[in-house]
Amino acid sequence: MRSIYLVGFMGSGKSSVAEALYEKTKKPILDTDQLIVEKYNLTIPEIFAQKGEPVFREYETNILKSTPIEDAIIATGGGIIEKDENRTWLKENGRVIFLQTSWEEISLRLVDDQSRPIWNNQARDKQKLLEDRTPFYLEVADTIVSTNGKKVEDIVKEILADENNL
Ligand code: S3P
Repeated sequence: MRSIYLVGFMGSGKSSVAEALYEKTKKPILDTDQLIVEKYNLTIPEIFAQKGEPVFREYETNILKSTPIEDAIIATGGGIIEKDENRTWLKENGRVIFLQTSWEEISLRLVDDQSRPIWNNQARDKQKLLEDRTPFYLEVADTIVSTNGKKVEDIVKEILADENNL
């Protein structure tokens, strides 16, 4: 079975959904951000501050292509769909689930977040970023799951109800 790749904006719940899917399926879970931190020995904010976003994006592509394409669940970073190369790779190799969350809900969930360099960059219009990225999430998605107002367990039930997902 193809690995599941969870995509969606920051705060859409990819990591929590991956953990809950693990509880149900016992398939190994991976997280591209965590793999980047382990491989390059720097935190995500350190990579953005010391090397810049383009270098982070190169690391992210390297890591994406190193993930197992069979029998795993992989939570990805919210910007992974920005590069054509990554979208092509995801469409060719993954079973992609887009966790779609409204701007209202994302901004409530991340109100106190200090850990995400793009979220904390005052110069960036994050609502516009969500609008700009949405067509890319839709382009790669095999399944779209709206997460608005839903508990993680309900999202997981919805994912597992589709036999193509596991
Ligand atoms: C990013 C999202 C983050 C992380 C990095 C960049 C983005 O992951 O990859 O800070 O560009 O949206 P999460 O989506 O898990 O927050």
